Amino acid sequence: MKSLLIVAGVVVAAFLTIAQFGTAGWSFPPIAAQQHGFRGTGMDQIQTKREAVALKDANKAPEPAEPADAGGDKAGTTYQNVQVLKDLSTEQFNRVMTSMTEWVAPEQGCTYCHNTENMASDDLYQKKVARRMLQMTQYINSDWKEKHVNGSGVTCYTCHRGQPVPKNIWFENPGLTAKGLTQPRNNGQNMASAEVGLASLPYDTLTEYLGKKDVNENAIRVNATTALPEGKGKPIQEAEKTYGLMMHMSQSLGVNCTYCHNTRAISQWSQSTPQRTTAWYGIRMVRALNGDYLEPLKGTFPPNRLGPTGDVPKVGCGTCHNGQPKPLNGAHVIDAYPELAKATASAADATPPAASPPADMPK
Ligand code: HEC
Ligand code: HEC
Ligand code: HEC
Ligand code: HEC
Repeated sequence: MKSLLIVAGVVVAAFLTIAQFGTAGWSFPPIAAQQHGFRGTGMDQIQTKREAVALKDANKAPEPAEPADAGGDKAGTTYQNVQVLKDLSTEQFNRVMTSMTEWVAPEQGCTYCHNTENMASDDLYQKKVARRMLQMTQYINSDWKEKHVNGSGVTCYTCHRGQPVPKNIWFENPGLTAKGLTQPRNNGQNMASAEVGLASLPYDTLTEYLGKKDVNENAIRVNATTALPEGKGKPIQEAEKTYGLMMHMSQSLGVNCTYCHNTRAISQWSQSTPQRTTAWYGIRMVRALNGDYLEPLKGTFPPNRLGPTGDVPKVGCGTCHNGQPKPLNGAHVIDAYPELAKATASAADATPPAASPPADMPK
């Protein structure tokens, strides 16, 4: 009898082991775990080696173009309608055009933005958008250098990856709208949405927290800041929205919550990693990109580029990050393109970041 039970036990164990391999979410070893916080806090990032290699291969930065001669006539004098890059030499200007084509429209070529009968013409919406994108790129690399993009910086490729429309963009999500009594209403949640990691969390949370510039500085905070309540706290729905945003951030960076938080005290800055501070500024940067650069292009984009509520396509964390904590494996893509790193000519309308960090946030 005893040996029969042992045999049965072994058979069951063997079947369960085999079954595991076929289950969704099962990661085949070997697993690579990286410690990311103090010892014993469980702040680890866990990946399989295979995933890590695949991610690295999918995010290679392209080789920069050969440097161009800085001498000779300026682009502003050679050409008729150069507004942003007028201080570059003509050769440097043409180098940027070639790289931009490679980064944004390699299949379509110059004609994606230009009417080749008249290169100076601004007929095509793509050219008008691209001019604003030049200013936006300069703004990111100058105003957000210390607070976010660091030595890596960004080029058009960081977001575009060889495509006119970047892969990870988002729109307002009206969800189900109840028009008659027979239609269901879901209070903006319980519907799988990629923006919140396919969770049942509120799915339009990006509109509220990342869509525009003038968001209350404490909008995302939900934890009480005093030991005893001093008024009405935030309702649970607010916490759900915060979690929705956090899912977007984690998924965009390919990390889990412990990349930034010690989950025993989520809100406390003193127990958070330095990356949380970078993320805090990242949130403010994204608001500025959407509010100051994309939103004003509403009238420039053709209707087929707008979202279901007629809003412009918008930037999220994943637009640059594409599943990595440092975009393009942390390559310093800006080094070879200093003209995209400083506010040239008419980028004066790039407003400085208006962010006042919480008092307890480490600098
Ligand atoms: C992604 C859009 C885009 C692509 C692709 C592109 N350009 Fe441009 N081009 C622009 C923008 C924007 C300007 C204006 C820049 C400014 O205002 O500083 C411009 C301006 C120019 C001008 C100056 C014209 C004038 O007289 O004012 C020339 C020449 C030019 N581009 C050549 C090219 C060539 C050649 C290619 C292909 C190798 C190319 N461009 C690809 C967006 C683009
Ligand atoms: C922070 C991310 C980001 C960077 C950096 C960036 N872009 Fe964009 N770009 C976007 C987003 C988001 C859109 C809107 C997508 C759409 O058009 O549907 C866009 C749209 C465009 C379009 C219009 C495409 C279309 O057909 O609708 C052009 C052209 C363009 N970008 C050129 C550039 C150029 C040139 C650069 C570099 C100087 C650049 N972008 C840098 C995010 C970025
Ligand atoms: C890339 C860094 C990062 C990751 C990953 C991240 N967070 Fe956050 N989290 C932040 C930042 C920054 C804030 C503060 C935002 C603000 O106040 O504007 C925050 C705030 C919060 C808050 C509100 C704290 C308070 O003060 O009330 C909660 C709750 C939270 N996060 C939960 C999570 C959860 C759960 C996850 C995983 C699903 C997660 N976070 C992943 C950076 C991160
Ligand atoms: C315009 C492109 C862009 C956008 C949009 C963006 N980031 Fe980043 N982020 C970068 C770059 C580039 C770096 C690498 C900086 C470096 O080399 O240290 C970075 C670094 C970070 C880091 C530090 C990673 C580390 O391991 O040191 C965090 C955390 C981060 N970003 C969070 C966010 C969050 C959260 C959002 C959205 C709210 C966001 N970022 C949006 C470009 C961007």
